[in-house]
Amino acid sequence: MNLRIFPDRKISVIFSVIALIGAGVVIFTFLNNVTTKLVCSGNFNNFQSVDTPLQLQAILHYATSKTVPQQSLAEINISFNVLKSISPCNFLVFGLGHDSLMWSSFNPGGLTLFLEEDPKWIHTVLKTAPDLKAVHVNYRTQLSQADDLMKTYRSEPECAPAKSYIKGNTQCKLALTGLPNAVYDKEWDMIMIDAPRGWFAEAPGRMGAIYSAMVMARNRKKPGVTHVFLHDVDRKVEKAYAEEFLCRKNLKDGTGRLWHFEIPPAGNVTKDDVSFC
Ligand SMILES: *[C@@H]1O[C@H](CO)[C@@H](O)[C@H](O)[C@H]1NC(C)=O
Ligand SMILES: *[C@@H]1O[C@H](CO)[C@@H](O)[C@H](O)[C@H]1NC(C)=O
Repeated sequence: MNLRIFPDRKISVIFSVIALIGAGVVIFTFLNNVTTKLVCSGNFNNFQSVDTPLQLQAILHYATSKTVPQQSLAEINISFNVLKSISPCNFLVFGLGHDSLMWSSFNPGGLTLFLEEDPKWIHTVLKTAPDLKAVHVNYRTQLSQADDLMKTYRSEPECAPAKSYIKGNTQCKLALTGLPNAVYDKEWDMIMIDAPRGWFAEAPGRMGAIYSAMVMARNRKKPGVTHVFLHDVDRKVEKAYAEEFLCRKNLKDGTGRLWHFEIPPAGNVTKDDVSFC
């Protein structure tokens, strides 16, 4: 008797599971239709992924990951507040990392582009988060040249504020000439500089990123300012280059190791402009 009941039970369990899955699919499809059609009416089209909005991917990722973004809550909060007020916007981020999915999801419907020096790392990150937009960048400098570049850039006319260009500016070593056209062709509303590496002599350092962010901000034609965020300002080079190019007068706020600049467009610069500040 027992031997006969057992297979019956097994079959009924299998049927129950199939029925549950079926019901789940029906309910999910229904809810999906209702939420998409009635509640969000088309908003989902604004997200970068058609299948699962980046925000939901981010929740899943950070809820199940032991690796958290490197910036502190107070630091992230400053950028979060700015993005809340200007998103959807064009957001350029130096560095691809554990915070990338977060930055992208803070800018729904906008363009968030990551610049990364290590092609293997791009490959690794995109495998788990294929909706992120990341491009590879070669840097022309080394951290060990930082002091020298700071002393000599004024005697290179192509680095002058009156020139203010980076694409094809091979004469000025601080100009990032290796960026894809997609970067030069856009006006960036917000630029986050948290890369390239700058903690050992052969690392590229952030000199070029800081200089180029200032040039992009000065050249802005759209109304409004460019928000430039610089991380690791406790380090000598980051601090010195920020003061030389991003300027104290543009420093809006900051906390921890993060500074937030609001840089106005330069408009029509006069030829005798010698300082960026
Ligand atoms: C983030 O910033 C907002 C606006 O300034 C503030 O109200 C809030 O308390 C901050 N949150 C944290 C966790 O710092
Ligand atoms: C800047 O120059 C352009 C053309 O040279 C001119 O049309 C424009 O009005 C000028 N803008 C300002 C703010 O002076």
